[in-house]
Amino acid sequence: MSKHVPARLVTRRRLLKAAGAGALAAGLPLSQGLLAAESRTDLTIQPASFPVTGPVTRGMVSTSPDAPPPVIRMAQHQAFRSRVNNTLADHTAMHWHGIRVPNAMDGVPYLTQIPIGPGESYDYAFTPQDAGTFWYHPHCMTMDQMALGFTGVLVVEEAEDPGFDTDIALNLRDFRLNGEGQFIDLWTARGAARGGTFGTVMTANWQTAPGYEAPSGGLLRLRLTATDTTRVYQIFVPGAEGQVIALDGHPLETPFAIPQTEEDGVVLSPGQRADLAIRMPASEGQSLTVMTAAPGPARQLATLTATGPDTGRDLRELRPLPPNPVAIPDLANARREEFVFGWSPIGDLPDNGLCGTLGYTFWSINRQAWPGDAVAGTGPLATFRLGESAVLRLRNESPNRHPIHLHGLTFRVIASNQREIRSHWTDTALLLPEESLDIALVMDNPGDWAFHCHIIEHQKTGLAGFIRVLDA
Ligand code: C2O
Ligand code: CU
Repeated sequence: MSKHVPARLVTRRRLLKAAGAGALAAGLPLSQGLLAAESRTDLTIQPASFPVTGPVTRGMVSTSPDAPPPVIRMAQHQAFRSRVNNTLADHTAMHWHGIRVPNAMDGVPYLTQIPIGPGESYDYAFTPQDAGTFWYHPHCMTMDQMALGFTGVLVVEEAEDPGFDTDIALNLRDFRLNGEGQFIDLWTARGAARGGTFGTVMTANWQTAPGYEAPSGGLLRLRLTATDTTRVYQIFVPGAEGQVIALDGHPLETPFAIPQTEEDGVVLSPGQRADLAIRMPASEGQSLTVMTAAPGPARQLATLTATGPDTGRDLRELRPLPPNPVAIPDLANARREEFVFGWSPIGDLPDNGLCGTLGYTFWSINRQAWPGDAVAGTGPLATFRLGESAVLRLRNESPNRHPIHLHGLTFRVIASNQREIRSHWTDTALLLPEESLDIALVMDNPGDWAFHCHIIEHQKTGLAGFIRVLDA
């Protein structure tokens, strides 16, 4: 393990600025995050600049001119609203990744809404049923806008406070920047046809290896969100005392110890999240480093430093996270469907409307290349009855990994033809090369739900479709 990337300690003030808006910032004591019965966070998607690597990176996309998209906090079972204004020159649409919203709030262009044009706005409203760590990103011009910065963490607070002292969200992603901190090509055809195009700079909350503080001996909830368009993380925290308590927004029935080494790291593919319960070191100034395996030496993502006198907390003082209200599929009577993910003959992508195209097809679902994030003019991959239990076999015919994401519904992986599965509720499952995964779910949310690879270059070059759940 190497420590070659120096960690920078950020002050609370800088942290607040970096996170966008006071009450929405990561790292605030929970007492400051209490919410009224309805919460509202309006967002204006706009051009931005920020010193990602030192020099100011221009041409970014955020919800403020000089800060990353904020951590949006809302409460489980309480109404949330957001007016999303678009001041970019391109169209956009907002998707709330992992949240089981009504179909019209899902932000998928042409499938659930008309894209938001320049100068236009769209009102989103939903009541989150599930507490946990989720995220948000555009679903139109997705490749450009995500690569330029527009990805943010969304936190749904449990109805009952689990008892942490500190809550820090890390938005993990890369940027493709040159030595002067300016964007280079956001993707390459070579990458799109293979594992995706990787960034040149790894960041957490738009900074390289930022530092955060938490009370010595205190209980920290660390929320990790992989919002990169390509990178699969493998997270470990050497010396950390604590457990992984939730994955992909859903509490684990059996939490497990925080991985200490690169080989056992928690795999977080694009779209996935992990919640860690950590007891901070007892003595002031001691620190923990959040690391990821990477090609070559492991890399530092962020540093957590103990501050102040020992608060003497104990992990057993935490209230276990209550399970989210997810319907249990009836496996004996489940309908079985297979989806095959593979290559496609290289061709021209069908017209993708106003949401951008990469200009090629490389990928397919059920041997058909689908048009990007818009799915305009196509039919569903499969149609289900409301309330039907299903087992979907996701079969990867390619030698590449694909994080497969399903909107609007929550599933669990129940079997793999290659490995032991640590099964939990999720919205995104990483399909290994040539792997078949069986996922089980209840089709309990009516609508047309996008179903695609979360390596955005794959999504935009054919690996994207939708399933339909009939209303009643
Ligand atoms: Cu996180 Cu269809 O996306
Ligand atoms: Cu893929």
